[in-house]
Amino acid sequence: MGKYNFDAYVERRNTNCIKWDNLDKSFPRAKEGALPMWVADMDFEVAAPILEAAHKVVDRKVFGYSTREVDRFYDAILGWYKRRFDWELDRESIMFSGGVVPAISILLRLLTEENNGVIIQRPVYYPFTNKIKENNRKVVNNPLIYKDGKYTMDFADLEEKAADPNNKVMILCSPHNPIGRVWTEEELKKVVEICKKHDVFIIADEIHNDLIRKGHKHINLQKLCPEYKEHIVTCLAPSKTFNLAGMQMSNIIINTQELRNAWNVEVSRCGAQSGPNPFAIEAIIAAYNESEDWLDELNEYLDGTVEYIKNFVEENLPKVKMIPIEGTYLVWLDFNEYGLTAEELETIMLEEAGLIFDEGTMFGEEGSGFERINIACPRSIVEECMNRIKVAFENR
Ligand SMILES: Cc1ncc(COP(=O)(O)O)c(C=O)c1O
Repeated sequence: MGKYNFDAYVERRNTNCIKWDNLDKSFPRAKEGALPMWVADMDFEVAAPILEAAHKVVDRKVFGYSTREVDRFYDAILGWYKRRFDWELDRESIMFSGGVVPAISILLRLLTEENNGVIIQRPVYYPFTNKIKENNRKVVNNPLIYKDGKYTMDFADLEEKAADPNNKVMILCSPHNPIGRVWTEEELKKVVEICKKHDVFIIADEIHNDLIRKGHKHINLQKLCPEYKEHIVTCLAPSKTFNLAGMQMSNIIINTQELRNAWNVEVSRCGAQSGPNPFAIEAIIAAYNESEDWLDELNEYLDGTVEYIKNFVEENLPKVKMIPIEGTYLVWLDFNEYGLTAEELETIMLEEAGLIFDEGTMFGEEGSGFERINIACPRSIVEECMNRIKVAFENR
C-alpha cells in the first residue's frame, strides 16, 4: 500500500452531500440502500495538506472578503501547469470563476449572439446543452463516431458544421466526459485546423486534465496550438483533481485583454461570483504546491479499479461492453446488447439493482443503452456495484 489509503470509507451521509443525501427525493425510484455513483465528485478524503490549510483558515477566526491577488496563489497555478504539462501560463490570463459551467454560460454570451449555433460532440456532459439552450443559442451536434467499442471524432461532419457561418463556437470536452477519451495530438490539431479555417472560437473544457489513465497523456489545446490561442478559452480547475468541487473555484484562461475586459463586465452584470472564498484560495495553494504525490497515487488507485472492472465485465458480463477509459474517473458501459429501452435499463438499475448512475441518455440520445459510473470511491463499493449488476443481468 502507498502513503494514502483510498480504500478507507468516508461517511458522507448527513453532510449535506448532493451525491449521498436526500436520495429518496432526487431518485424516488431507487430502492432502499441504493449506491450513489452518479455526480462527479469523489468519496475519498482530500490530501492532508489541503485539510491542514483549511484548518489554518478556521484558526484565523474571521472569514471576510478575500482576494486572490497574491503571488502565492498565482505561483501555485503557474507552477502546477509548468511542472505537470510543461505549459507556461500567463498570470494575467487567469480569470476567476466559481465554476466551469457558469463560466461556459458567460462565455457563450460574450462570443455568440442569440440563435447562433454552438458545436458540441455528443454524447457529452449535459450542462453544455443546458447552457446553450438557456442562453437562446442553438445546439449543433457533431456526434462522436462509435465503432467497435471505441469513440472517435467525425471530422467531415465537424467541417460541415464549422463551415456554417452561423456556428460561432465549439465546446471541446478534453478529456471527454462521459466517453473517457483523452484526445491525441493529431485529433486536437485537426479540430484547431477546422475551427481556424472557419473562424470558430473554441471553449476547451479541460477540467479533467489531471485524471489521466495509465499510458495516456493529456495535451492542453492552447499549448499545442499557440498560434490560435487568442481564439481559445481554456477552463481549468482543481475541483475534479483534488475533490474540491464544493470550494467553487475554477480558473478560466482568456488570452486577449479585450475578452478579459468583456468577461469582467459580464461577470458584474449577471451577478456571478466575482472572487474566491478564503478556504478556496488556501486549498488551491496547498493542492498545487503540496499534494502532487496524493494525485499520483490516486491515479494509480483508479487505474487499479479500472482493471478490476475490465476483468469483471469480461468474466461475468459478456453482453456488456466497457469503453476503454483513457481519462476521468467515469466509466462508460454499453448495455445495448440486452435490447432494452433506455427506460427499461434505468428501471433495472434503480429499482432492481439499487444503483444510481448517470443514465446514458442524459448525455444525448447517442447515450441510449449506456450508463456512466463514477468509480471515484473505495474499491469495495465498486465491487458491490459490479456484483449487483451481475445479479440483475444474470438471466437476461
Ligand atoms: C466536463 C465537465 N465540465 C465541468 C464540470 C463541472 O464544473 P463546475 O463544477 O466547475 O461547474 C464537470 C463536472 O462533472 C465536467 O465533467
